[in-house]
Amino acid sequence: MAADEQRNHPGDLEAAPRPSAFLVPHSRPPKRNRSCFCKCRRRTILSPIAFIVAVAATFGILYLTLCLIDPNDPKYSVNRLSMSAFSVDKDLNVKAAFNVTVTATNPNKRIGIYYVDGSEVNMLYAGTRLCSGEFPVFYQGHRITTVMALMLNGQVKVGSELLNALQEQQRTGMVPVSFEGRVPIKVKIGALKIWKVTARLNCDLVVNSLSVSNQISIKTSTCKFRLKL
Ligand SMILES: *[C@@H]1O[C@H](CO)[C@@H](O)[C@H](O)[C@H]1NC(C)=O
Repeated sequence: MAADEQRNHPGDLEAAPRPSAFLVPHSRPPKRNRSCFCKCRRRTILSPIAFIVAVAATFGILYLTLCLIDPNDPKYSVNRLSMSAFSVDKDLNVKAAFNVTVTATNPNKRIGIYYVDGSEVNMLYAGTRLCSGEFPVFYQGHRITTVMALMLNGQVKVGSELLNALQEQQRTGMVPVSFEGRVPIKVKIGALKIWKVTARLNCDLVVNSLSVSNQISIKTSTCKFRLKL
């Protein structure tokens, strides 16, 4: 019996590794499941971290790029104003022609500005457009100040209240007018020319009078600038 047992045992022992060898793969799936479970858990834990790292890196690069580019709004001012025509006929048609001297400054050291076709500038009195013109088409390089004379022409029919208000203000020597512009521009950063955006320019002026005779004196002038993407 003992010999048989001994005989059997080695046989069992020999046979045992085989099933166990076969069992090992069988015993692996739970391990795999476990490891997959761990991996999956790790993935779900890692992915928000990876996401945050990616977002932080993106913002970091953007921030550094912006620091390097250091963008500043261009500056505009209306320096001189004169009229070559200003008349009102009996039907209350106002004919006006302005010569507006505008100074445009590009303060950027890495951004160039292309002023492109399709601009419109207007001179308004009490919300009524008296005349309009265009911005010149040109490229303004880094840290350049450009002085330009814009010629505005127009004819508009107005109400008698508007003319009465204007006459009253002409007497006091304080006539508020606004000069506004919609100017399409293309921004150039290094060699990269970026898509067209519209620059909106709005200047509130108070002048002594609207008249053809002599140069109009500008009492106050404030210009605002914003970009419409
Ligand atoms: C417009 O005004 C500017 C500056 O005062 C002047 O140099 C220019 O000759 C004027 N242009 C016209 C057509 O009157």
